[in-house]
This record gives sequence, structure tokens and C-alpha cells, in this order.
Amino acid sequence: MQKLKISGGKKLVGEVKISGAKNAALPILAASLLSEKNISLNNVPQLNDIATMITLLQSMGVEVVFDDTMRLNLNARNVDRLIAPYDLVKTMRASILVLGPLVSRFGSAEVSLPGGCAIGARPVNLHIDGLRAMGAQIEVQDGYIKASATKLQGVHFNFKEISVTGTENIMMAAVLAEGETIITNAAREPEIVDLANFLRNMGANIEGDGTHKIIINGVNKLNGADYRVMPDRVETGTYLVATAITGGKILLKNTSENLLESVLSKLREAGAEIEAGEDWISLDMQRGNLKAVSFSTSPYPGFPTDMQAQFCALNSVANGEAEMVENIFENRFQHVVELHRMGADIQIKGNIASSKGVDSLTAAPVMATDLRASAGLIIAALAAEGDTIIDRIYHIDRGYERVEEKLQQLGASVSRENS
Ligand code: UD1
Repeated sequence: MQKLKISGGKKLVGEVKISGAKNAALPILAASLLSEKNISLNNVPQLNDIATMITLLQSMGVEVVFDDTMRLNLNARNVDRLIAPYDLVKTMRASILVLGPLVSRFGSAEVSLPGGCAIGARPVNLHIDGLRAMGAQIEVQDGYIKASATKLQGVHFNFKEISVTGTENIMMAAVLAEGETIITNAAREPEIVDLANFLRNMGANIEGDGTHKIIINGVNKLNGADYRVMPDRVETGTYLVATAITGGKILLKNTSENLLESVLSKLREAGAEIEAGEDWISLDMQRGNLKAVSFSTSPYPGFPTDMQAQFCALNSVANGEAEMVENIFENRFQHVVELHRMGADIQIKGNIASSKGVDSLTAAPVMATDLRASAGLIIAALAAEGDTIIDRIYHIDRGYERVEEKLQQLGASVSRENS
């Protein structure tokens, strides 16, 4: 199993190009199932989760080719196997995103139930409720969601709880349904808007994305599309926090401040000087005096749960005390136990982690438990004294493109080790 060795204490200084967003590329790839025409995508990040989605689409009969310019070309003309098997779904929950497109275009789908997950139960009941409301017959049998429909019907579907991939699944189902679908209490994440932009590029009729009410008028067929995936806002935030904790200075390119206002405002509160232009963000923390910042995670535009672990690491060495409230997932503080091993003073009570900044962290062998937890541990290791070894680094490869190369570019001492 591969490990990451990080020798801490170096200030990150330099420039990094931000990759395309994993959480936008995944639903967009699933949406390629909606048309028999050619889809061409730019800025798709090369990540394990993307590879899993491509394998899943290929297993259904989608033709997928990366061309010389690293554009991803897809064609779903010959899809004939409407199944998402357990082996793939268990490695990536976002595989559930094929459910809506399959039922909508082909009237049938068998998708494995995702099952448990390190950060909490993460059920998919809302995805199922939404499709049932649109007229799909759905049974859950032998660990699989078995869905069929003659033609999905437009409905008014209100999400009892805000769900990002749930909203995306119902959007993808509705674009080819009969009549008008109104989704209320919809997720407002930028990735929802990116999916809507992509679907409009294919000829879909969608309004209101980015608000809590999305209105979709079904069309008979969708065309091909040529589309550039939005920048990854979580990768952006992660490099900003990593630079802040080391007292460094960074210029991030191919990204946008509009995607992460809540994160930038917390970093400013922590003492960072931040500037931004149309497609770049810079952060300067060289003056030091990192201050602890409290926050509560909530759906967009609130503070993202996907940035909680990184800020936990930051607060562990910041001046003062902070309270971090996790409202989205019930078991998302596993990195805190690992941070304790590095000397952090963070107490957990229910869904609240309370930190008291320590003068410095010390290196220790630690274990990554999920994708964003591993980002938090990398950030802690960059600030710690000595060599930290992070085990189970495969989690980071699911969501951060060329992570050690990008960190090395900024002057960090990072290497990958096989053991
Ligand atoms: C997406 C993101 C993930 C992010 C999360 C929250 C992708 C591929 N992943 O995950 O990185 O951390 O949003 O911003 O985009 N819920 C139910 N029933 C459902 C669906 C969800 O109860 O059918 C609950 C979940 O358990 C959770 C909350 O709703 O407590 C939000 O989950 P959701 O927005 O669905 O997360 P994902 O879409 O899986």
C-alpha cells in the first residue's frame, strides 16, 4: 500500500494550476448516457474516481477515448448493459449518478446500493423517492435498486433534505421526461450549475439552477456537446489552507473566487491576505499570526463539509480557540484522532470539535480514512516538525490530481513510498 512521506516546516511558495472539478465531472460523465451523439469534454481531472466512472460507463457500452489534447470523447449510442455492479459502486458512491440517466433514456436500470461509507450512512432514499414520483417502478432487491419506467413524467418534487447528487439525478431524469419538472429545496452547489450548463449545451431546457427551485421542461432527444468542466473549488481551498498553515504565498490559476466565498472569508478571518482576478486567486500569509476560526458546515453557499478537515488542521496550530460544527455527515471527524497523534488539542462532543491551538505539531505515522481527511492530514504534516508518514494514501488519489507534484512545485518535501 502506498504512503506519503512529508517533511514539514517548509513554507509553500509559488504557483499552481487548479484542475477540473471532480464533483462536476462525475455527473457530467453520467449525463453522457442521455444522448446517442458525441460528447467532448475538456478539463476533466485525471483521478481514480473519474477512472471508476469511465470504467462503469464502458461496462455499459459507452465508447470513451482520451485524445492527444487530453479531451475526453464519449459516445453512448451502443449502450446495452443497464447495470452498475456492486464492485464499482462500492469503490465510489457517486456511481449512483447513472440511475437517473439510465431510467430516463432507456426505461430501465439496476444500480447497486452504495452501502456504508467512512463518513456516515449516506442513504440514497431521496434519489429513489424522486424517481418514483416521476413514475418509475423501483424495487430494492438483493442489494440492488431495480428501476423501470415507460416514460418518466414531470412532477413537483420537494427534497426533504438538500442533496447534491440527489438533485443531479432528478435533473438528469427530468431533461428527457414528459412535461415540466419542478425541483424545490434543490441543492445550489456550483457543480449543479455546471451540470445544468452542460445539459443546456446538449439542448435541455432548464431554469433556476443555482437557486432552490429548478424548473425543467423535458425534451424528446438531446444532442451532443462540447464542454469545459469548471475548476475544482475544494482543491482550490485545500491549496489555500496548506499555504496559510505554512506561512507561505501562493498564486492559484484556472480557478475563481466566486466558487468559494465562504472559505475565502474564513481564511481572511484567519489573517490571510487574499486577492483575486477573473481566473486566479492569491494568498499571502507571510506576515504570520494565524488566528483560529470557528465555522459550521452547511449546504452551499455555506461553509462546505468538504473543507472541514483542512480547517481542523489549520486551527490545530492557529492562535486561540475555535468551534467547528459538522452538520452534513455524522461521522466526519476521523482525522481528529489522527491529528491528536501529531499533538493537536481538539475535543469532540457530538458534531462539534473544539480546538485550542498548540505551538507546533510533531510528525507521527498517521492513517487517512477518507478523501478530505487525507487532505487535512497532508496540511497538518506540512506544518509539523519532522517526517510524517501518511498511510492509505489511495484516498487522496480519488480526488487530488498529481498532489505530490503540485506540492513539490510549491517547495514542499513530499514523496510517495511503496510498502
Ligand atoms: C456530495 C459531494 C460530496 C459532499 C456532499 C455534501 C459529489 C460526488 N459528492 O455528496 O463531496 O461532501 O455532496 O456537500 O458531488 N441524504 C439522505 N438521503 C439521500 C441523500 C442524502 O438522507 O437520499 C443525506 C446525507 O446522508 C447527508 C446529506 O443528505 O447527510 C447531504 O448529502 P448529499 O448532498 O446527498 O451528499 P452527496 O451528494 O452524496
